[in-house]
Amino acid sequence: MEKKNYKRTLVTTALPYANGPVHIGHLAGVYVPADIYTRYLRLKGEDVIMIGGSDEHGVPITIKAQKEGVTPQDIVDRYHNIIKDSMQGLGISFDIYGRTTSATHRVTASDFFKKLYDKGEFIEKTSMQFYDEEADQWLADRYIMGTCPHCGNERAYGDQCEACGRDLNATDLINPHSTITGNTPVLRETKHWYMPLDKWEPRLRQWILEGHKEWKSNVYGQCKSWLDGGLQPRAVTRDLNWGIPVPIEGAEGKVLYVWFDAPIGYISNTKDLLPDSWEKYWKDPDTRIIHFIGKDNIVFHCLIFPAMLMAEGSYQLPENVPANEFLNLEGDKISTSRNWAVWLHEYLEEFPGKEDVLRYVLTANAPETKDNDFTWRDFQARNNNELVAILGNFVNRAIVLTHKYFDGVIPTAHELTDYDHQTINEFKDVKATLSENIETFHFREALKDAMNLARIGNKYLADTEPWKLAKTDMTRVETIMNIALQIAANLAIAFEPFLPFSAAKLRGMLGMPDVRWDKLGDIDILAAGNKVEKPVLLFEKIDDSVVEAQMARLERIKQENIIKNFQPKAVAEPCTFDDFAKLDIRVGTVLECEKVKKADKLLKFTIDDGLKGRTIVSGIAKWYQPEELVGKQVCFIANFPPKTLKGIESQGMILSAEDADGRLVVIGPTGPVKPGVQVG
Ligand code: MF3
Ligand code: ZN
Repeated sequence: MEKKNYKRTLVTTALPYANGPVHIGHLAGVYVPADIYTRYLRLKGEDVIMIGGSDEHGVPITIKAQKEGVTPQDIVDRYHNIIKDSMQGLGISFDIYGRTTSATHRVTASDFFKKLYDKGEFIEKTSMQFYDEEADQWLADRYIMGTCPHCGNERAYGDQCEACGRDLNATDLINPHSTITGNTPVLRETKHWYMPLDKWEPRLRQWILEGHKEWKSNVYGQCKSWLDGGLQPRAVTRDLNWGIPVPIEGAEGKVLYVWFDAPIGYISNTKDLLPDSWEKYWKDPDTRIIHFIGKDNIVFHCLIFPAMLMAEGSYQLPENVPANEFLNLEGDKISTSRNWAVWLHEYLEEFPGKEDVLRYVLTANAPETKDNDFTWRDFQARNNNELVAILGNFVNRAIVLTHKYFDGVIPTAHELTDYDHQTINEFKDVKATLSENIETFHFREALKDAMNLARIGNKYLADTEPWKLAKTDMTRVETIMNIALQIAANLAIAFEPFLPFSAAKLRGMLGMPDVRWDKLGDIDILAAGNKVEKPVLLFEKIDDSVVEAQMARLERIKQENIIKNFQPKAVAEPCTFDDFAKLDIRVGTVLECEKVKKADKLLKFTIDDGLKGRTIVSGIAKWYQPEELVGKQVCFIANFPPKTLKGIESQGMILSAEDADGRLVVIGPTGPVKPGVQVG
């Protein structure tokens, strides 16, 4: 397809719900790629703005407020500030980070609704909706849960099933129940306004399925399956007391549906950024609009919001919606409620100066075409083997050698050899693929291209060996070091979109006040005779102990979750007293306890059983040090036939309780008793 020459670009990033901080999943899916794209366009000198902000309405916020016993405003104030600061901390370079509780947004969203209402674009419908009589509250969206009629997921919400991704009406749920009281809700009559998406279906089909075949296949595929399934009218108002009031008579107590107002937030925030010129970013066909989102937001950005914009009539539709899949953490789905996440604000505190390491790892591992996994081992390996060993190493060498041989003065290049030309040409090619990859949203590939430049630099120094020539041919060394420094200058450009903190440090070392993308590939960026600064380390090795501490933290969270979610098993089949009496359970005192050699699970006990004593082998070594059990009284089954384990005859079984997380806790009497007494 022919590329259009746009005059300007509007980049939007999904507005995160202000009901919690942001985590690495949000970053990898949305903010890091959007930032790379925006920084790249800025470096090219293009007119681009990047819009972000918090999504502060909707049920996720009111639920959190109710749980904590504070107001929704308290919740959004708290998290808006945490999110805003942490995004800035990671160098996500929003031109504005606004919020949907702003005055501008309230008016903009309200007017938008009013305009569609006045144009007759809504259907007004009375229907039966769920109501919780005990809580005296309507149950919209996440206030109601039940079984998804499509996939059987028992934890589907009233607006969406997270298991199959389908969008739902609360009344479709099987076995609906209130998430406030757990009660089965009653149906009550209420009036709402609906967007007739079916009316826009032909235009949406045409626009996406015919006009945007170049969209990422995950996005295109999801749109196609929605469109093929047939679009239904969608309610755009809710019975809720948190949100933007529906601006028409007879709608008291009703607010705009959060997914109606939130995307309009992109517009409101653009207005706040550019009160006089915002319209050209939204309404001029020469603007390229790009929505960066995660896959759960596809339907809203590709179908519903565009239908709203079509109905309004004066806005441009997005040129692309490069949605990402999900990032998992150590093999499990990231979850705010289970605290299974790496939180950005915590990372920034625990890893000061390592903003770029996270940006690098999240880009290298971005879930661009399929779900991907973040692991702390991979984080460490990419830092140590790539950032330190390749990029940091090359830059450091180039600058150290310049100080060593030339007192920090950039030497002049003399006649170039064939090998020099070959290296320079390799460089030139990289620029084209790197640019192409960023423009087509292949950021992982683009990062590889950038890293490849550092590899070329390392190879150049290793092959030319200036440290050997320094004794014989200083003229040649001057040329080599000039080229090496020019390569370092190129890295400062190439990495600026990806690793802005390190790129800035590098610019500082090389004395490059400004950088432009079109200089990438040039070898006359630095002027001979200028000085480079003393080297500062761009990256440092991350020790095992650091990532192991993070893994241990996650392990603890996992255990806590298991315990929190523990459900006792159903009670077993009935049995008689006679069945029970067959077991001869007794109390004994532990005289000795030791580890069994070559069996890391087993402990060997010598038990005083009031008779001649007995040996029991038990599989609890993982949970006890042998010495802590000596002197303790334990319960054991005395009449099991003996069994040989690792060459030791075990004469019975020590009783223990298995905790929710699988940990075994030995059972004994609560006070001292005579060894050998029976339990019953
Ligand atoms: N808050 C939504 C989420 O986290 C995203 C809103 S994007 C916008 O899933 F378009 F509504 F702004
Ligand atoms: Zn489902």
